[in-house]
Amino acid sequence: MGKRTLIIYVVITLFVCIFAVMSGYSQEDVTTVEDSAFEEKMRPTVQFLHDEHNEAAGLEECDVCHHVYKDGEKIEDESSEETECSECHTLNKGDNPLSLVKVYHLQCKGCHQKEKAGPIMCSECHPR
Ligand code: HEC
Ligand code: HEC
Ligand code: HEC
Ligand code: HEC
Repeated sequence: MGKRTLIIYVVITLFVCIFAVMSGYSQEDVTTVEDSAFEEKMRPTVQFLHDEHNEAAGLEECDVCHHVYKDGEKIEDESSEETECSECHTLNKGDNPLSLVKVYHLQCKGCHQKEKAGPIMCSECHPR
C-alpha cells in the first residue's frame, strides 16, 4: 500500500467515525411530535421531520425549542433536549395560562407567524 493510499484510508476512516458520532446525537428518527402526556388525541398526529425542519428553517441552536429557564429568565447556551416539554409544562387547561397545548402552539405557530414561513393552519400541522 502506497503512502498516499494509506492517507486516503485514514482520512475516510476518520470521516466515518465523525459521522457516526454526530448521527448518534442527531435526531433523524424524530418525524412526529408525540408528547406522552397526550393520552387521547383529538387531532391527527403532528408531522415534524426534526432534523430536516431545523435545517430548512436555519435553526442551529437547540435551545430555541429545548430551552432552560431560571427565575423566569431564559439561560443562554443551555438546552433541555433530553426532557420532554410536558415534564415542565403541564397539561392542565384550567387556570394555567400556559398549558401544554398552548406552549406547543405558541412555540411552533408563534415562530411561523413571526418568520412568515411555515404552516399556521390546523390541518397543515395536524393532517387528516
Ligand atoms: C423547532 C424546535 C426544535 C429545535 C430547534 C430542536 N428540537 Fe429537538 N425536538 C423538538 C420537538 C418538538 C421534539 C419532539 C418532542 C416529543 O415528541 O416529545 C424534539 C425531540 C428531540 C429529541 C428526542 C427526545 C425524545 O424524548 O425522544 C432529541 C434528543 C432532540 N430533540 C435533540 C435536539 C438537538 C440536539 C437539537 C439541536 C441540534 C434540537 N433537538 C433542536 C423540537 C426542536
Ligand atoms: C426544563 C423545563 C422546560 C422544558 C423541558 C421546556 N420548557 Fe418551555 N418553559 C419553561 C419555563 C420555566 C418557562 C418560563 C415561563 C413559565 O414559567 O411557564 C417556559 C416558557 C415557555 C414558553 C413561553 C415563552 C417562550 O419561550 O415563548 C413556551 C412557548 C414554551 N416554554 C414551550 C416549550 C416547548 C414547546 C418545549 C418542548 C420543546 C418546552 N417549552 C420545554 C420550562 C421548560
Ligand atoms: C424558531 C422558528 C420555528 C419554530 C420554533 C418552529 N418552526 Fe416550523 N418552520 C419554521 C420555518 C422558518 C419554516 C419554513 C422552512 C422552509 O423555508 O422550508 C418552517 C416550516 C415548517 C413546516 C413545513 C415544512 C416541513 O418541514 O415539513 C412544518 C410542518 C413545521 N414547520 C412544523 C413545526 C412544528 C410542529 C413546530 C413545533 C414543534 C415548529 N415547526 C417550530 C420555523 C420554525
Ligand atoms: C405549527 C403547527 C401547529 C398548528 C398550526 C396547530 N397545531 Fe395543534 N399541536 C401542534 C403540536 C406540535 C402539538 C403537540 C402534539 C403532540 O405532542 O402530540 C399540538 C397539539 C394539539 C392538540 C392537543 C393534542 C390533541 O390532539 O388532542 C390539539 C387539540 C390541537 N393541537 C388542536 C389544534 C387546532 C384546533 C389548531 C388550529 C386552530 C392547531 N392545533 C394548529 C402543532 C400545531
